[in-house]
Amino acid sequence: MHPLIVARVTRDPWPDRPTRALCDDRAVTLLTQPPTFTEPRSSALLLLGQGTDLASERGVECSGALPAASDPDLVERARAARAALGERAFVLGHHYQRDEVIDFADVTGDSFKLAREAAARPEAEFILFCGVHFMAESADILTSDAQQVVLPDLAAGCSMADMAAIDQVEDAWDVLVEAGIAEDTVPVTYMNSTAAIKAFTGRHGGTVCTSSNAQVALRWAFDRVGGVDGTGKVLFMPDQHLGRNTAVLQLGIPLDQCVVFDPRKPHGGLTVQQLRDARMILWRGHCSVHGRFSAQNLVDARAAVPDVTVLVHPECKHEVVTGADMVGSTEFIIKALDAAEPGSAWAIGTELNLVRRLAAAHPDKRISYLDDTVCFCSTMNRIDLPHLVWAMESLADGRTVNRIVVDADDAHWARVALDQMLALPGL
Ligand code: 13P
Ligand code: SF4
Repeated sequence: MHPLIVARVTRDPWPDRPTRALCDDRAVTLLTQPPTFTEPRSSALLLLGQGTDLASERGVECSGALPAASDPDLVERARAARAALGERAFVLGHHYQRDEVIDFADVTGDSFKLAREAAARPEAEFILFCGVHFMAESADILTSDAQQVVLPDLAAGCSMADMAAIDQVEDAWDVLVEAGIAEDTVPVTYMNSTAAIKAFTGRHGGTVCTSSNAQVALRWAFDRVGGVDGTGKVLFMPDQHLGRNTAVLQLGIPLDQCVVFDPRKPHGGLTVQQLRDARMILWRGHCSVHGRFSAQNLVDARAAVPDVTVLVHPECKHEVVTGADMVGSTEFIIKALDAAEPGSAWAIGTELNLVRRLAAAHPDKRISYLDDTVCFCSTMNRIDLPHLVWAMESLADGRTVNRIVVDADDAHWARVALDQMLALPGL
């Protein structure tokens, strides 16, 4: 679809009714009736990297010139800027990044591996984080004050992380206090959360987890309040699916002891009794990419290729994960494909950049995408070669751009929760 949707406003034959606009061939009703067509404000039409519209992900300004994606010298410019920075910089690339970005990553990984890699580079003056905002925040927290973490496009956020705001989480904790269960509850937050939520978790004696260590993290959390077989609880944020899948399938907590806390409803939409009876209090959040996969996708995949192995990420819905053959983080998915027999057939349920790369890397295996619709993580995709070149050239010119800095108090407490994760047994 063209990125700029043009609204064609038609004259309404019934002037008393709201004017209707045809937008991308769908009729939408305007809230107010404009007397004549009004030119959209320019902020609605910003090009990537040009102009500023902080209320929107479309326009995050890049100071200086953002190279055009069509620049024929882009790859050469990237090589030159990377060479100019040398060992002063370290480039981290999440597995969901575009190929053009992965080509310049010094290391690739899942969120857990990248957090560890960032912490293990004290000599690098600049950490260029090709991933999303919460990952860059974690890298800033885990590195020294002398190191600068740069996110090449500030619009690279995460819709799941945005589903838990710190005010909402503080209010939710008050609900648990009122219900008399806060003392028996340990917060566990997925890496995909803001630094403020990680700090909340640290302040309340909890831990961060990622998709590759959620089982160990949950077991650790339950052990602090009487063990998995006891009566203590975990408040799991913000991904309800990872929390439910791990608790039910890996720790054996009954499904009916998992409740969903909806921050938009009074008391989370739960009664005091429901909260007291629960073992897992799951935040109502999800990943918009992994939430697309459905049980029907599994049926279709198995019908198309009877000997297929379905391998999905634990951010998928419970019915998808229970119907799959294997479940794991992005790093796990890569290793599973590396170890697979030539000729074996796989349907993979995770972000498309990674699945495409796996298919290209394993021409001897039959790899397909679990969904029949293209689904990239749009925010991961915000980091492209023009933004990476712009960030690297700026740093090489002595200008730090898009630095991610977490405030000192949040950084302290978030680090407590992150260090707890890094110290979890068996990792
Ligand atoms: P992992 O890389 O930890 O598997 O997480 C996937 C993801 O959604 C990152 O945003
Ligand atoms: Fe967030 Fe989902 Fe994108 Fe990961 S894949 S960054 S969880 S929106």
